[in-house]
Amino acid sequence: MRLILLGPPGAGKGTQAEFITAAYSIPHISTGDILRQNVKEGTELGKQAKTYMDRGDLVPDALIFDMVEDRFAQPDTVNGFLLDGFPRNETQAQTLDTMLQRKGQSIDAVILIQADKQLLIERAVGRRVCRNCGATYHLVNRPSAKGTHCEKCDTELYHRPDDVEETIKNRIEVYESQTQPLIEYYTRQGKIVSVDGTKPVAEVSNAIRQAL
Ligand code: AP5
Repeated sequence: MRLILLGPPGAGKGTQAEFITAAYSIPHISTGDILRQNVKEGTELGKQAKTYMDRGDLVPDALIFDMVEDRFAQPDTVNGFLLDGFPRNETQAQTLDTMLQRKGQSIDAVILIQADKQLLIERAVGRRVCRNCGATYHLVNRPSAKGTHCEKCDTELYHRPDDVEETIKNRIEVYESQTQPLIEYYTRQGKIVSVDGTKPVAEVSNAIRQAL
């Protein structure tokens, strides 16, 4: 399966990625996670990307393409993958199509998770993430049984710097102007599978399972 998760910030892409990658035994390729790892390690890519990420703007395409090419070169992507956060504009979508065509491959489906703006803001503001394993919680919807620490590895949880209200609002605007047109792009290709992201996590997972 070669899949894409599409949707606004806080829609639940990362949350649903956990079950999809387990169900289909495919790697989860999140460009946001790779960028945050580079920021944490202080790499040249991380230093360049941080300014854009902190504002909630898209990181320039040239930086993203090199990063994605590197990730696709790893052997675990041979039999499929789940892309989360890429592509994010039409140039990225066309480049992805070209990259896959060169290998005689194509995307099987694009899972679109949608939710309204106020819910997206509440989810992002309340999100807490494990510094070590990346597990995601929410202060209200999905609190960690260990409070300020991760249930899985006991590491402290943190609040993403781009999860403050002003930045989230900008991220939603960037999504609407640059990423939303991809719904039309993939609808033309007959690949969109749309689910209601306002439902509880398990219901959204079931809807994705049935649609796929
Ligand atoms: P990225 O990391 O991709 O962030 P995003 O797309 O904004 O998505 P999020 O991670 O915020 O949300 P999500 O949909 O995964 O929600 P989650 O499941 O965690 O990008 C960050 C930045 O990196 C960008 O702004 C940009 O600068 C840069 N970037 C990345 N890729 C790029 C690219 N290709 N090109 C250029 N720049 C790029 O859920 C959110 C919260 O809600 C959690 O607390 C969760 O527990 C809760 N929740 C989830 N589902 C439910 C539910 N059904 N019910 C109740 N609560 C729920």
